Amino acid sequence: MALQYRAAVLHAAQTPLSIETVTVADLKPGDVLVRIRAAGLCHTDLEVIEGSLRYPLPMVLGHEAAGTVERVGSAARGVKPGDHVVLSWNPHCGHCFYCDRDAPILCEQYLGEGPRGVSFDGGTRARLADGRSLQQLMFLGSFGEYCVVADQQAIPVPNEIPFDRACLIGCGVMTGVGAALNLGAIAHGDTVMVIGCGAVGLAAVQGARLAGAGSIIAVDIDPAKLVLAARIGATQGVDASKDDVIAAAKRETGGRGADVVIEAAGHASALRVTAEAVRPGGQVIWLGKIDVNKDVSFRWGSLMQEKRIRRVSYGNARPRRDFPRLARAYLEGSLMLDELISRRITLEGINDGFAALKRGGVIRSVITFD
Ligand SMILES: NC(=O)c1ccc[n+]([C@@H]2O[C@H](COP(=O)([O-])OP(=O)(O)OC[C@H]3O[C@@H](n4cnc5c(N)ncnc54)[C@H](O)[C@@H]3O)[C@@H](O)[C@H]2O)c1
Ligand SMILES: [Zn+2]
Ligand SMILES: [Zn+2]
Repeated sequence: MALQYRAAVLHAAQTPLSIETVTVADLKPGDVLVRIRAAGLCHTDLEVIEGSLRYPLPMVLGHEAAGTVERVGSAARGVKPGDHVVLSWNPHCGHCFYCDRDAPILCEQYLGEGPRGVSFDGGTRARLADGRSLQQLMFLGSFGEYCVVADQQAIPVPNEIPFDRACLIGCGVMTGVGAALNLGAIAHGDTVMVIGCGAVGLAAVQGARLAGAGSIIAVDIDPAKLVLAARIGATQGVDASKDDVIAAAKRETGGRGADVVIEAAGHASALRVTAEAVRPGGQVIWLGKIDVNKDVSFRWGSLMQEKRIRRVSYGNARPRRDFPRLARAYLEGSLMLDELISRRITLEGINDGFAALKRGGVIRSVITFD
């Protein structure tokens, strides 16, 4: 009999997720069946629930997860049953125009199939009790007890890292740390400003610390986030709800502006500030997202003077290289992950978890499956 498992299903935007028993399809040769042990609630999932990020429904959300490999398809490579894995949401073909140009995040197959909410080969891997097929967010759909992924998405990590911390590596931590480390944007001693200190921004603060930044200015509108940012490496905090963020960047740098400004708030006003707060010739890195159909306006002068502005998805991740490296950094004590977990919840508590993320009181809620 086909495996059945509980999953949180989104049937329509702006409605609660419903916990249902769903049925997994037979494994294709390159598939891996993963038993999910922990899954983080990311802002991107919230955007799908709210409808600002649109996908075909019904769908299982969740794209930041860790678990154990339960079964592998006949042609699956690189993983075996029992492995502890962190899941990647960027499968790529390895031989298209963009893969050939070392940009797996732009892979034609990835960008072609992703918006359809299907597996990397274009099929689906689970169905509802009434037989309808179920879409998966970002080739995962990890808000459930199991998840079927392509072999290249299941990345083995050391068994010693607990699942609830390992899962964070799969999206927020990879995105933030990778933005700071993988682009070569930060030189030793640089002044780095990070705007928005949720899970992604706090990871960027840590990435800046690991890259050897001299000053790290954390910016948020929630004072509690600034306290946490200081604990994990920020050298100063700026409350954007009452302080002048641009002035703070200039004060620290003899009037020039920060060498690197990273945006992880996902707000138009924060995106605008990045261009004003960076120095001439400096690097702006945008990680946050707003509704793709909305406009953002900039003062033209703020974009001049050789500023380099780059939108980055997934921190330029190379999961097979980066996930084990990030896990080891945690185990060695240089990457702080415990601090990013505000609550551990059950699958049944998922709607409350998203309500809390929306209110802004949490960094990460992590669902644990015991
Ligand atoms: N680029 C990627 O690959 C990628 C991956 C994951 C998430 N994201 C995006 O990154 C952003 C952050 O994700 P998250 O999960 O950390 O979200 P989050 O909601 O946990 O964090 C956002 C933080 O920004 C703060 N904030 C809001 N408005 C602000 C403002 N005007 N100035 C300063 N701070 C402000 C909030 O108080 C909060 O602490 C989101 O837009 C998310 O969609 C991008
Ligand atoms: Zn995410
Ligand atoms: Zn490709």
